[in-house]
Amino acid sequence: MPTSPPRSLSRLIVLLGLPALPVGLIAADVPAPRDPARIVTLLCANCHGSTLTGGAGPSLVDSYWNHGNTSENIARSIRSGWPLSRMPPFGRTLSEAEIDRLVAYIHHQGEEFALGNIKIPPPPPDQTITSEKATFRLES
Ligand code: HEC
Repeated sequence: MPTSPPRSLSRLIVLLGLPALPVGLIAADVPAPRDPARIVTLLCANCHGSTLTGGAGPSLVDSYWNHGNTSENIARSIRSGWPLSRMPPFGRTLSEAEIDRLVAYIHHQGEEFALGNIKIPPPPPDQTITSEKATFRLES
């Protein structure tokens, strides 16, 4: 049975339209990755400090790592978080490209810290510090 002209026409439109669609979606849906330093200020500095030397969350520039410091380890920490120890997951907030750039930024900050180019800021006066073994107050 021959296909009626309108139907083949709509099929033609579907065939022509389909390949164009994903291209359009990719262009519209994936914005350019945001600058990692900006992401740190917005999303990480509260806990890890503005230069990532630590705060409520651990330092990300020294050589102590709870969950490993390969690029994949760090990306995993950022993507999935460590909810039991209050590290939030960012896999829905950040694109994979942003996580990749953030990982590179963290490696870079670590190198700068090792070279002595990043100093640990002094704690604010009167801050009570609790460590595993002691609680103490700094007085200046
Ligand atoms: C609400 C506080 C908080 C925020 C915000 C936060 N973190 Fe964390 N983060 C933590 C805590 C607490 C840990 C320690 C988790 C652990 O060791 O189990 C941690 C651990 C990590 C680790 C693993 C460190 C290690 O020793 O293996 C990485 C990497 C990390 N955070 C990156 C980030 C990045 C990047 C951001 C911003 C996108 C961020 N975090 C935002 C609290 C936070």
